[in-house]
Amino acid sequence: MTYEIAVIPGDGIGQEVTPAALEVLEAVGLDAEFTAADAGDQIYEATGEALPPETYELAATADATLFGAAGETAADVILPLREAVESFVNVRPATAYPGVDALRPETDLVFLRENTEGVYAGHESRLSDDLSTLTRVVTESASRELAAFACQYVSDRDLDGFTVAHKANVMRETDGRFRDAVLEVADDHGVDTDEVLMDAFATHVCLDPTQFDVIVCPNLAGDVLSDLAAGLVGGLGLLPSANIGSDRGLFEPVHGTAPDIAGKGIANPSAAILSAAMLLEFLGHDEEATAVKTAVETVLEDGPRTADLGGAASTDEVTAAIIAHL
Ligand code: NAI
Ligand code: MG
Repeated sequence: MTYEIAVIPGDGIGQEVTPAALEVLEAVGLDAEFTAADAGDQIYEATGEALPPETYELAATADATLFGAAGETAADVILPLREAVESFVNVRPATAYPGVDALRPETDLVFLRENTEGVYAGHESRLSDDLSTLTRVVTESASRELAAFACQYVSDRDLDGFTVAHKANVMRETDGRFRDAVLEVADDHGVDTDEVLMDAFATHVCLDPTQFDVIVCPNLAGDVLSDLAAGLVGGLGLLPSANIGSDRGLFEPVHGTAPDIAGKGIANPSAAILSAAMLLEFLGHDEEATAVKTAVETVLEDGPRTADLGGAASTDEVTAAIIAHL
């Protein structure tokens, strides 16, 4: 079967790391038709639209989408794109690799972040010159869908269970509902769980990340805590993510457009290439996914390395080294 894959590089280093990820997908011989599409600041400046309807449509119909990053228009691009693929979970692994100078080399975490609601549901209002408000959305159905995915995720990987991070002591109604729904589904599936308040989690994970494994959390918490974990493992250049829907998915590095290094050809392509490995896994090509991950790990350990990891190699040199190891 020939897959339809949408490729949306976006802005800044998205333009540099997305071609690297695409090269890797071609190198493993994925039988796919790749279609490029625009999104982000550049197309917004040219047309007044950050996410052209044809790009949305492409993501909504493709088997999978490879996305880079968008700049100031990120919220207008990535939130609708996640909706286009009907994604209900954002999978964000944060692993410290041998050879990378990490604050916490023992870190090996996966965040399963709710991907459609919470404070990112888009219900913000300016009510007066003094007052702005935000409505936080939590549904039983989205919480249960996330929990069912988490149960499947840990059972597929023979993991012990998962931790629910929340703030139900303060947001009793919304996070209370989230926590109760997730714990109930886990109980029905016979999956072990524990729970932690998300602020306490931030401290505990810095002091001893080995206490945690898979963390299930609401949208904003997943966004913030996974960036915190990026700091523990050696930087944003290493963190991939997968926005999973029932029929399609969108795969993107956690990082943004990195304006400070964009255009120099020195961005670390690892996060984007590991996102491509998650795409392969999503399509059921586990062997190729493992080959890509192993090649990235080998290059992280042996070099060449980009500047964020203390090296002097270019994006292209690192990409070529990864492909050579496939
Ligand atoms: P950022 O992730 O772009 O950069 C943060 C820092 O990490 C910078 O010093 C950057 O050089 C470094 N970095 C990130 N990725 C790297 C890589 N692959 N290799 C080497 N170094 C890397 O976050 P920042 O600076 O907060 O945001 C910049 C722009 O990106 C903003 O306009 C923001 O809206 C957008 N953004 C977009 C996202 C998306 O499209 N999903 C996600 C996060 C930010
Ligand atoms: Mg973020």
